[in-house]
Amino acid sequence: MAKTKTSFICQACGSVYSRWQGKCEACGEWNTIVEESSAGGVAGGPQRSRRRGTPSQLLALSGESEEAPRIASGIAELDRATGGGIVRGSAILIGGDPGIGKSTLLMQAAAALSRKGAKVIYVSGEEAVAQVRLRAERLKASDTSVQLMAETNVEDILATLAESGRPDLVIIDSIQTLWSDQADSAPGTVTQVRTGVQSLIRFAKASGAAVVLVGHVTKEGQIAGPRVVEHMVDAVLYFEGEGGHHYRILRTVKNRFGPTDEIGVFEMGDKGLREVPNPSELFLGERNNKAPGAAVFAGMEGTRPVLVEIQALVAPSSLGTPRRAVLGWDSPRLAMVLAVLEARCGVRLGQHDVYLNVAGGYRISEPAADLAVAAALVSSLSGVTLPADAVYFGEISLSGATRPVVHSGQRLREAEKLGFSLATIPANIPDLPKSGMGLSEIENVGDLVATIAAG
Ligand code: TYD
Ligand code: MG
Repeated sequence: MAKTKTSFICQACGSVYSRWQGKCEACGEWNTIVEESSAGGVAGGPQRSRRRGTPSQLLALSGESEEAPRIASGIAELDRATGGGIVRGSAILIGGDPGIGKSTLLMQAAAALSRKGAKVIYVSGEEAVAQVRLRAERLKASDTSVQLMAETNVEDILATLAESGRPDLVIIDSIQTLWSDQADSAPGTVTQVRTGVQSLIRFAKASGAAVVLVGHVTKEGQIAGPRVVEHMVDAVLYFEGEGGHHYRILRTVKNRFGPTDEIGVFEMGDKGLREVPNPSELFLGERNNKAPGAAVFAGMEGTRPVLVEIQALVAPSSLGTPRRAVLGWDSPRLAMVLAVLEARCGVRLGQHDVYLNVAGGYRISEPAADLAVAAALVSSLSGVTLPADAVYFGEISLSGATRPVVHSGQRLREAEKLGFSLATIPANIPDLPKSGMGLSEIENVGDLVATIAAG
């Protein structure tokens, strides 16, 4: 009988310690280290070290290659985020806050795939079959051939799958409820989740079925975060949304078979998630262009242009150290734009609180937003409202010079399509295609400040 060994494992990042401690040195989280027991020796155990390796085959780099076979769901926003459909034999993790709509999305995907003839099995460890059926009814998915299983034990799940005939897609909702006979720890701990996910990934590779794993993201670290699993799977998608807003974004953060900068946009309604093929209209819908401090940024998400409003509030501060608060953009990036405005353009912001918000709870990850942020800040400080039909994009360097950004033509086309007619952009953009937009091409952010100040 193997000796039981206990170790202390961080539930957030999976680091292993021999003793308990309050803070995980690897990820910096507090109170995430939990004692777990694992049967048998780890590396170097007597049974393991005896096995002699069998030689494998060495292959040339050139040779037959093939495009990964995909199953497209027909839900365009989902297929876009996965890079053209879910790859057969791959494992995908979909993470997100509890209640954001992961189960809804996957039930709709299961129904869509099943209508296209795929064999889909939905394993629910969180909800009873009756509950899943109720949701399926609401989503008009009941008439499909999706099969349900309410099970949390990995060995039982695998045994059922083995008997079920070859499924094309297996959905596991969620990995936090999985437990395996092979690990002694409590369900939900890192060891259990990792063991369970490993077996399911092995099943995916061996059977050719795609496995979609649902994982809740929790701040507390009580339940194992899916971060440990991220390294094991082929693709990681995050389903995000902002409280109080109905739209949801499916963002790819890792993809071994496709690009990682694509997003899928959905809107949650009473009949489930609806695709949003034109996100700009959604984000600009909440626009208030009559007050100073609002600038429209022509952004890009992967191959798709997205227009959003950036709102700034600059107000005299009563604090020794003025406040800087940012929602939807990078704090260090804001600090940089503020410093450039102050040092290069003489815009005095040192005695002011600065609040920056991206409308609709949207999150921007491009430096191309620099110019729009600067425009919003200067507009708020000077009290001058920006023209309602103007968009801004371009990067600002520390010298105050503007720098061209990629996909300029596409950004301008989208803005024109949505009724904008003016664009403030960096000068010297190479190969800028002709468009009907009036262009203000500036070499320095100081030119932007001067234009706004002139009214
Ligand atoms: P759910 O998919 O259960 O979230 P998760 O699996 O990520 O925890 O969705 C939860 C929320 O979505 C819930 O608050 C109700 C809402 N919802 C709708 O608004 N419309 C719908 O058609 C459905 C099915 C859910
Ligand atoms: Mg759920």
